[in-house]
Amino acid sequence: MAGSPSLFARFYAPVLRVLARSGTRLLLVNLADPNPHIAFPELPPGYTAEPKQPVDLLPWATSEHGLNETFLRQASKRGDRCVANFYHGDLVGYGFVTRCFARVTEQIGVRVGAGLQYRYKGWTHPAHRRKHLSHARGRLNSRLFPQTPGQCMVSYVEAHNFASRLTHADVHPIFLGCCLIVSVLGREYPINSPSAKRFGLELVHLNREGAVRA
Ligand SMILES: CC(C)(COP(=O)(O)OP(=O)(O)OC[C@H]1O[C@@H](n2cnc3c(N)ncnc32)[C@H](O)[C@@H]1OP(=O)(O)O)[C@@H](O)C(=O)NCCC(=O)NCCS
Repeated sequence: MAGSPSLFARFYAPVLRVLARSGTRLLLVNLADPNPHIAFPELPPGYTAEPKQPVDLLPWATSEHGLNETFLRQASKRGDRCVANFYHGDLVGYGFVTRCFARVTEQIGVRVGAGLQYRYKGWTHPAHRRKHLSHARGRLNSRLFPQTPGQCMVSYVEAHNFASRLTHADVHPIFLGCCLIVSVLGREYPINSPSAKRFGLELVHLNREGAVRA
């Protein structure tokens, strides 16, 4: 499901993009390969991939980097981990992993069950894309969070985001199901895939304070 886009996929991509612009988002939930066979990629000179705590990225909490202080402090408080890419010491990419919760929008979050790790918020600076930085983050995560039978790693990609689907193809090749966020008159409603929910990944409603609604 997360492989190279077919002709059919290229045809429905514009439809998915229009839906996404209207606030309705189709999420493809994928499970990581527990025995990844692809080697850690050789990064071009000057680039690194390093495990970090979210608060280590505070110097780069800017809109250019898509990060802010509140997000980084809350992620650290939850015990989330992060893999970051640097180019001569400057932050050029990151991805986070949580064992409990991550926010998707103002109104929707992802709740993660026991035994599950959830990869979220992957980003590579536009000037540094297609250098296998996302690939390196995925491989490093697989090393840092070994997957035993009771420990799975999941992630989702938005159906219209082909760059993200292609980078996910080697690290998260097992398709688990689709979730949907439907937006009606400014309110968002989560629709969960039964198979993803069985695994422990569930979209949930948040209240104004960002807490999961009862
Ligand atoms: C998606 C994203 C993280 C990819 O990061 P990246 O560091 O450029 O990805 P990589 O270099 O590791 O890509 C690995 C492979 O994925 C495929 N791929 C990645 N981006 C692609 C693109 N735009 N078009 C076609 N193939 C692409 C290629 O096969 C690539 O290998 P190759 O360059 O040897 O052909 C980056 O485009 C990004 O930050 N996008 C905006 C934020 C986003 O959408 N995040 C995903 C949230 S789930």
